[in-house]
Amino acid sequence: MKISFAKSALPAEGALVVGILEGGALTATAARLDEACGGTLTRAIAASRFEGKKDQSLLLVAPAGLTVSRLLLLGLGKGEKVDALAAEAFGGGAVAQLAAAGDAQMAIAVDAVEGSTLTAAALAAHVALGARLRSYRFDKYRTTEKKDEKPSVKKVAVLVDDPAAAKKLYAPLEAVADGVFLTRDLASEPANVIYPESLAEQAKALADLGLEVEVLGEKQMKKLGMGALLGVGQGSERESQLAVLRWSGAADKEAAPIAFVGKGVTFDTGGICLKPAANMEDMKWDMGGAAVVIGLMKALALRKAKVNAVGVVGLVENMPSGTAQRPGDVVTSASGQTIEVINTDAEGRLVLADALWYTQDRFKPRAIIDLATLTGAIIVSLGSHYAGLFANDDALAGQLTAAGAAVGEKLWRMPVDDPYDKQIKSEIADMKNVGEGGAGSVTAAMFLKRFIKDTPWAHLDIAGVTWAKKDGPVTPKGASAFGVRLLDRLVADQYEQK
Ligand code: BES
Ligand code: MN
Ligand code: ZN
Repeated sequence: MKISFAKSALPAEGALVVGILEGGALTATAARLDEACGGTLTRAIAASRFEGKKDQSLLLVAPAGLTVSRLLLLGLGKGEKVDALAAEAFGGGAVAQLAAAGDAQMAIAVDAVEGSTLTAAALAAHVALGARLRSYRFDKYRTTEKKDEKPSVKKVAVLVDDPAAAKKLYAPLEAVADGVFLTRDLASEPANVIYPESLAEQAKALADLGLEVEVLGEKQMKKLGMGALLGVGQGSERESQLAVLRWSGAADKEAAPIAFVGKGVTFDTGGICLKPAANMEDMKWDMGGAAVVIGLMKALALRKAKVNAVGVVGLVENMPSGTAQRPGDVVTSASGQTIEVINTDAEGRLVLADALWYTQDRFKPRAIIDLATLTGAIIVSLGSHYAGLFANDDALAGQLTAAGAAVGEKLWRMPVDDPYDKQIKSEIADMKNVGEGGAGSVTAAMFLKRFIKDTPWAHLDIAGVTWAKKDGPVTPKGASAFGVRLLDRLVADQYEQK
């Protein structure tokens, strides 16, 4: 779906979408349309229950007096509440309703909104972003899908008074959308296609954009003493990998970077502590954290962010086999700390232990943020509306929460506190990989914290938000890429040179 911006002239064909404010006057375009069709628009609104409320819509097919195939009136809500997120939901809603209606083209009219703090150009840029994000579809393996089941809309024109200004504002947003699409693709691919080496190849391909990408194999990781990560991968036929992506966009290329670390378990069977069969296929997206890091690094490179950033992803496949690690095994991590593996299904923290240590030791980052589909317990706590946020630094936690709220990827802070640390004490080693008692997500975070020295650190448990079971305003059901937009926003707001 190609998105462009054009001057607000009423289109001759295709579908047309226009916003209607709740309890406000018709916007300029809506008033023009109403006149062109002899008042049909006002009459249609009066004859229906459509009041311009958010998420309400009214479809007029083949409206007399107009040459467009259909006119969709989409509620914008109250003018003063029309912000970037509302504009994105509006663009997403337009695509959701019309992408498969039969038209090849669609135009979305965006006017200035009285009461909104955003200009028409800024609203148009966010409408375009919402349309783009919602148009995502992973259909490469549907070979027998009929043409009339596939989206018909190929082109979307966002109509606005100052298309040049809108286009300029959209450029960095489009870069982020491209990052989101890569993340969604990677998480959607099955585990026979995306495994540690093929995922590392996907990271390497980003070198074309100016990222420096290095990949460490098992031999190099062994030298570095990464017994925790390697133990998880030892039951798999696939070789474990650690990929490092670097973007040096700051004026001082040597300045300490911000670091992102992702859990990349390309398939999590649970290992010897085998998971039940029901829904085990979901564990293809247990590399969701790594996919976010890779998509984020792509976005930063595409929009040439003025920041130094590193992304590190630990890539392993957790399989049961004759070479797999056993419950009770003791492994030595790169930090030197030993871990008793009580449950081979608590593998993500083992991977992150070495990835976090390596990142911190090698790059001395300003801050380190990890993302992981780490615990089922976070789904019990927060469901799918918020990701869990754990941090050793209040300022970083606040910045992350604010960035998440700004882009609609919400975080809820959970405790990181010493009493929970006692729950992972082991009789035989420095710690064990599962906690006694409750608070499974917190004890997992406490485990990670043992591999952080004094770097400001945050951990996002994204197990509940990585895969959407229902359509969202800008996310069709499936891989959400939750975290890409959030962390891009964090970088823009807090770490980029202005
Ligand atoms: N990848 C899972 C967590 C998960 C569960 C992600 C559901 C997405 C959806 C993780 O590796 C895991 O298996 N965690 C265990 C830990 C337990 C054994 C301490 C869990 O949450 O059950
Ligand atoms: Mn597991
Ligand atoms: Zn896992």
